[in-house]
Amino acid sequence: MNLKLILFSPTGGTRRVGEALADAIRTESDNCETFELCASAEAVRLPTFTANDMTIIAMPVFAGRVPSLAIERLRQTEGNNARCAVVAVYGNRAYDDALIEMHDVAASLGFRVIAAIGAVAEHSIVRAYGHGRPDADDIRELQSFGRHIAKKIANGDDTPPSTPGNRPYRKPVYGPYPKANRRCDACGACANGCPAGAIDKDNIKTVDKQKCISCMKCVAACPKGARGVGSLLRFIIARKIRKGCATRKRSELFA
Ligand SMILES: Cc1cc2nc3c(=O)[nH]c(=O)nc-3n(C[C@H](O)[C@H](O)[C@H](O)COP(=O)(O)O)c2cc1C
Repeated sequence: MNLKLILFSPTGGTRRVGEALADAIRTESDNCETFELCASAEAVRLPTFTANDMTIIAMPVFAGRVPSLAIERLRQTEGNNARCAVVAVYGNRAYDDALIEMHDVAASLGFRVIAAIGAVAEHSIVRAYGHGRPDADDIRELQSFGRHIAKKIANGDDTPPSTPGNRPYRKPVYGPYPKANRRCDACGACANGCPAGAIDKDNIKTVDKQKCISCMKCVAACPKGARGVGSLLRFIIARKIRKGCATRKRSELFA
């Protein structure tokens, strides 16, 4: 079996979840390839699929939805009846309609959706929420989900999951937009990695709000810690989601 891991992981949490699952699903003889869609438009590479492939599509949750750029890039593929597990990775508040959105998009592209997972990673704006996750307990849980999916594949069981979520999906919410502070020395690391082309190399301290998807990749990419969401705005966001993030959420498997 060929296992293809399709990721959109601006700050690495989605990648860690996807890789833990992939490790549990694949056997030693399986070939596993990773495709990162959260990259500059020129760097994005997409696989082709056959009915013998298994794919994991893992994407982060932004305001209860999947980032539209991630969906736009995924839509450039065709599933060709490959088996698929969709994974919505969220920062311990909620995944809301993101998982059903991923299920719908994957099915519309011709994937056989056999599993859906909501998994927790550190919140990429308010890092105190879900701090350090996925942790060892999460990885163990994800690995057991992976083994369950592997069994489903071995048994030829293609039953689609009852994926939770609402249709129509929630309305998308935009922002916050990170910007540079005085420590910025215009090295360009943020602009090079921006998946949306929202940072102009000649005017590095600002961001094009029409293009920015608020993914925080520029914040993670900055070697000087010179880019971020202002502390007041972060405080306001932290207050707004505090209740929703108060208890530890567990990952959930629908298969
Ligand atoms: C703009 C934005 C909106 C977010 N909205 C949610 C949300 O609705 N629910 C939630 O639990 N986490 C939310 N998060 C947290 C991310 O889903 C979480 O940190 C995820 O792991 C990010 O993926 P990454 O680590 O691959 O970048 C949001 C993060 C960002 C940047």
